[in-house]
Amino acid sequence: MSYDDVQACAQLIKDKFDGTIPKMAMVLGSGLNDLADSVEDATVFSYADLPGFPKPTVAGHAGRMLIGKLAGSPVICMQGRAHAYEGHPPSTLAFSTRVLWALGVEILVLTNAAGSLDEKAGPGSLMAITDHINFSGINPLVGLNDERFGPRFPDVTAAWDKALTKTLEGCAADLDIELHHGTYLMALGPNFETPAEIRAFRSWGVNAVGMSTVPECLVARHCGMRVCGISSITNYAAGMTGEELTHHETMEYGAIAAVNLDKLLRAFASKVA
Ligand code: HPA
Repeated sequence: MSYDDVQACAQLIKDKFDGTIPKMAMVLGSGLNDLADSVEDATVFSYADLPGFPKPTVAGHAGRMLIGKLAGSPVICMQGRAHAYEGHPPSTLAFSTRVLWALGVEILVLTNAAGSLDEKAGPGSLMAITDHINFSGINPLVGLNDERFGPRFPDVTAAWDKALTKTLEGCAADLDIELHHGTYLMALGPNFETPAEIRAFRSWGVNAVGMSTVPECLVARHCGMRVCGISSITNYAAGMTGEELTHHETMEYGAIAAVNLDKLLRAFASKVA
């Protein structure tokens, strides 16, 4: 996917959207898609109608871009995302984030469903992502680098924006919502982890594990967008309880966490957008 493809897709959106494009975008992960219902005055684009967009194939991922308002503040809401485990080539995972950048988006809020390695952060809770480990084995920036997007060797020391995360924490405190924080590890999936993997990740200081988000963060930082993120904790990671893990459980607890996430994102939007 070339620079021109990205610009062409962004131009198509600009041509069809009647108004000023928001400076902030939010990506809604598994079990969190219904948050898009909160977007007012939405202009909706199906990913299927956006040339170059990888199409999500997983239940719970709608595949729509909504441009509208959240609690009165302009936002773009990405309802669903494509995952590497669906077989999309890593470089195509860069496309949708680059289109947001080409539209002029400056702040990207990434959400996901994740398993917790932290006993104190149980299913239904929220965690602000303060750093990550890319354990997926893939990287969307692999391949020829186009300097118009960003440098060949991007620095990711400050991948997760401290000021934005502080604002999230402030909003959570105002709303009396408990917000954990920690390191997110991306595994490729699609299987959940083994207990041995989780024990290893814990020794690395990982707090939550999931199968997404890191590619978008890397692409967004490459082109200079500011990024913050929230994991909705849907389960304790493998081996931490006597139970097995299911996608159903992910959806169920995602819906519980979504209630608080909805409030948090509204408050954040009105502070930042
Ligand atoms: N592991 C990986 N991805 C996940 C999990 C998990 O435990 N829960 C939700 N997404």
